[in-house]
Amino acid sequence: SQLLHGEEGAMLACSQLVDMVPGNDAKFFQATQVVDEARHAEVLSRYLLDKCDGKIYPMTGNIKKLFDYILGNGKWFIKTVGLQLLAETFAVSLFRMLMETAKDPLLRGICKRILADESRHMGFSILSLPDEIRGLSAGDLHELEDFTREALVLVMTGQFPREAYEAMGMSAADIEAIRQARKEIALGSEYALFRKLFRREMHQTVVSNMQKVGLLNDRTSAFMREMGINTTLAAAA
Ligand SMILES: [Fe+2]
Ligand SMILES: [Fe+2]
Repeated sequence: SQLLHGEEGAMLACSQLVDMVPGNDAKFFQATQVVDEARHAEVLSRYLLDKCDGKIYPMTGNIKKLFDYILGNGKWFIKTVGLQLLAETFAVSLFRMLMETAKDPLLRGICKRILADESRHMGFSILSLPDEIRGLSAGDLHELEDFTREALVLVMTGQFPREAYEAMGMSAADIEAIRQARKEIALGSEYALFRKLFRREMHQTVVSNMQKVGLLNDRTSAFMREMGINTTLAAAA
């Protein structure tokens, strides 16, 4: 459900970007991304309808907040950083994990096809942002850095599927017990390794993308280190 909401948010953000990005080539690209994201939203919603009894859970707080920022901001470079540099990096890590671990071969196939489009979308930010970021005023750069910090916090802090547990009839006490158990499992050995690999891959991609577009500076590196992101790994590679 959260991936479906993300795809719908991406479709809306890209439709705004068609109007906002400078130059016809960028507009043509954004128009193709609107179509891609509509296809992704359609296939995920059909999967939930046909294979999961049509149960669609509401957006978690973090994802809603992130898309409210992205959709509500009036600057194209902020939308592009939020959507194509950060949110899609996170989505790609999730789709890849699902593609490798889902038990349903249909779902694995859907993820594989979506991933082929997503790498193109991330590519747009890498190509379009460096010149723009180099030319930003000090005020705009500051705003972009602040937004990056907010967006990273929202993307990196986990999503607890409270509504799904409530729908299964669990009480508040049960749900609290699950939250505790999840914490303990996350610290346990096997799952911890899985999480560590997932996080490391995502962190490295974020750091290397930020470096490519010129957004990795002293200020952003400092707050990323505070979040536990190693900012030197990708820079050295
Ligand atoms: Fe997508
Ligand atoms: Fe995308």
